[in-house]
Amino acid sequence: MTENADATPLTFYEEVGGHETFVRLVDAFYRGVADDEVLRPMYPEEDLGPARERLTMFLEQYWGGPTTYSERRGHPRLRMRHAAFHVNPDARDRWLQHMRDALDELQLPPLHEETLWDYLQRAAFAMVNTFEPSGIGPAAGGRDATIVPGPNARNVPRSSIPVTAAQPPDTD
Ligand code: HEM
Repeated sequence: MTENADATPLTFYEEVGGHETFVRLVDAFYRGVADDEVLRPMYPEEDLGPARERLTMFLEQYWGGPTTYSERRGHPRLRMRHAAFHVNPDARDRWLQHMRDALDELQLPPLHEETLWDYLQRAAFAMVNTFEPSGIGPAAGGRDATIVPGPNARNVPRSSIPVTAAQPPDTD
C-alpha cells in the first residue's frame, strides 16, 4: 500500500486525490442530472448546489476523508433518506450512467476507478425502493406524502418495509 513520509497508510480518499477529486466527480455527475428528465424533477430544491454538497461530503466521509457529512447531517441512513423518492430501476440506471460519465471524465488510475465504480454500482442497486414505472406508485413526481409507509401501505416493496416501518425516521 502507498504510504506517506511518516509511514501512516494513506486513506483511499487521499490516494484518489482528496477533496478536489470528489468535487470534480460530483460536479460532473450533477451536470448530467441537471439535464435528466426523470431525475431532475425528483430533486426538491430548485438549486442543485445543496444536493451536490451533500453527496460530495458523504462520499468524502465514506472513503476516509473529513466527517463533515455526519457532523452536519447525522447518521447517513441512506436507504431511509431515499424512501421519499421514486427510485426504480430506470432511475437507478440513469443515476449510474451520470456517475459513469463523471468517472470517465476524471480519468483516474484504473484501480481507483474500478474501486469507486464497484461501490457506486452496489450502492445504487441497494437504493432501489420500487419497481413501479415512473409516475405510478409511491413518490411519483418527487417527494411522497407517505414518507414512512406503514406495513399495510400499498405499492411498498417488501424489501423497504423493515427499513421504513421499523422505527421513526430520526432514531434508527
Ligand atoms: C439509485 C439512484 C438514486 C437516486 C434516483 C437518488 C436520488 C436522490 C435524491 C432525489 C436526493 C435528494 C436530494 C438531497 O436532498 O440531497 C438524494 C439525496 C442523497 N443521495 Fe441519492 N439517489 C440515488 C442513489 C444514491 C447513491 C447510490 C448514493 C450513495 C452512494 C446516494 C447518496 C445520496 C446522499 C448522500 C444524499 C443526501 C442525503 C441527505 O443528507 O439528506 N444516492 N438522492
